[in-house]
Amino acid sequence: MDQTHVAKAAELLRDAEFACCLTGAGVSAESGVPTFRDLDGLWQDHRAEELVTIEAFQADPRRVWKFHHGWRELIGSVEPNPGHVALVRMEKILPRFELITQNVDGLHQAAGSSGVIELHGNIWDTWCVNCRYQCDAKLQPLSDEPHCPQCGAWLRPGVIWFGEALPIDALRAAQRAALSCDVMLVVGTSAVVQPAASLPEWACQHGASIIEVNPESTPLSRIAAVRLSGPGAHVLPALAEKLSA
Ligand code: APR
Repeated sequence: MDQTHVAKAAELLRDAEFACCLTGAGVSAESGVPTFRDLDGLWQDHRAEELVTIEAFQADPRRVWKFHHGWRELIGSVEPNPGHVALVRMEKILPRFELITQNVDGLHQAAGSSGVIELHGNIWDTWCVNCRYQCDAKLQPLSDEPHCPQCGAWLRPGVIWFGEALPIDALRAAQRAALSCDVMLVVGTSAVVQPAASLPEWACQHGASIIEVNPESTPLSRIAAVRLSGPGAHVLPALAEKLSA
């Protein structure tokens, strides 16, 4: 990790009246949650179209639930890593800091981040496909084939699947942040899934500086004012440390 780049990123953040952060699966990699598109990612040995679309659920809800139960079990067994913790530290240091995530694992909240904007829902949320029933599967464990206690229809995981609209409040809040922040820290996303991938582009077009934290280059790297190449669990604590120095 290049210390000059860390210092430059810290300076940009220190000068910002409003900083926001967009995270993706990479921020949870060191917690043991696999990413999606890396070599050991979920979409290497699972077909997304058979597991995370409404069509797949309609065709075979048991199969879709089996995948999500496994994913929940894994997420339920892991802890936030030093990258998540460093973002909590930044929230405390900076005058205004908003965190937008594509992750459904809830690890930012578990670390202590507040007001997290979840663009793709949360793995523990559970909804009825027919009525307005909702529950939190963390508090209320589900059966293997969960059905609504009110109307008997299938329950479904509260994650946003491919082809579905994002929760409107979360999307609006994320767009507002992107259009008004001075700095956007982008951590651990391949930046290929829309509309999340457009947020840094909009922020940049509106004059914000982009700081990218990722061991690999992404389509966003070309617009990044600073690229911090390395895993989030190493880079973010170093950045928070520099910021508080
Ligand atoms: N620290 C930081 N970044 C990392 C790390 C790490 N330790 N390990 C991997 N990465 C980076 C990878 O280089 C890659 O750019 O994290 C990124 C992960 O990309 P994806 O797997 O595509 O995850 P993400 O961008 O969050 O995916 C977006 O796609 O399938 C959907 O809904 C799912 O929210 C998800 C969306």
